[in-house]
Amino acid sequence: MISVRNLSKSFGANAVLKDISFDVAKGKTAVLLGKSGSGKSTMLRCLNLLEHWDSGHVEIAGAALGRTKQSGGDWRRWNAREEAEARQRIGMVFQQFNLFPHMTVLQNVMCGPKRILGKDEAASKKIALALLDQVGLAEKQGAYPAFLSGGQQQRVAIARALAMEPTVLLLDEITSALDPELVGEVLEVVRDLKRRGLTMVCVTHEIHFAEDVADQVIFMEDGLVVEEGPPESILANPGTERLRKFLTRFHAQNRGGSRVAA
Ligand SMILES: Nc1ncnc2c1ncn2[C@@H]1O[C@H](COP(=O)(O)OP(=O)(O)OP(=O)(O)O)[C@@H](O)[C@H]1O
Ligand SMILES: [Mg+2]
Repeated sequence: MISVRNLSKSFGANAVLKDISFDVAKGKTAVLLGKSGSGKSTMLRCLNLLEHWDSGHVEIAGAALGRTKQSGGDWRRWNAREEAEARQRIGMVFQQFNLFPHMTVLQNVMCGPKRILGKDEAASKKIALALLDQVGLAEKQGAYPAFLSGGQQQRVAIARALAMEPTVLLLDEITSALDPELVGEVLEVVRDLKRRGLTMVCVTHEIHFAEDVADQVIFMEDGLVVEEGPPESILANPGTERLRKFLTRFHAQNRGGSRVAA
């Protein structure tokens, strides 16, 4: 479903992504794991065209992302309208939920189908209510975001992304801003999406998140994919010194048990 080939990106002299390649199969959940500054968010932002990469190639569902091959064989970068259209199909949820504070929960989830997909009021409401039910928040439809807990707000943000019927969903540190006791309810929503067969790429620096939801872990450091594989094999038996060190440091910092309420 997602194919990244030899993707590189610099901010000025800072080479943030260096020849990154990976694939995510349809219906699978990949977790990009790595310490702060390793380039995880930048990689995710490239997949949503919030950043432009310098070289490399990305395909989503078999079609090139961000550029079109012209009859002469040259590639033309998409214009803003083409990027915006593609972004509708690539959902993204952030650490800070970014809900519209002046809209109710229901309005937050309805506004995409209504304003962007052009569905009528009744159809948009039906979609939004079904999604709020799916994330366990149907009874909060009339509330404003400020009156919800962080975990509830994040579940609304996920419902809002799903309302656009994305082919892939990108999640950037979606549990990092939450109190530990609220992490479990958001993870449960992610597990449910997994069961429903949505293709997801999640970014985290928390090993527990990777252990919990990943089919595939992609460990990044200094803009490189250092190691990749199923969580049960690479997290239990890291094949590189760099991943081994990362895991040791993480466990040392989190001595005393799991932060994730599973
Ligand atoms: N818009 C930008 N302009 C300049 N430099 C940037 C920009 N965005 C990110 N960077 C730099 O790119 C590098 C990677 O940042 P990125 O946010 O991708 O890391 P990350 O792995 O997501 O880290 P964290 O776990 O802290 O979120 C950092 O050195 C950062 O300073
Ligand atoms: Mg980040």
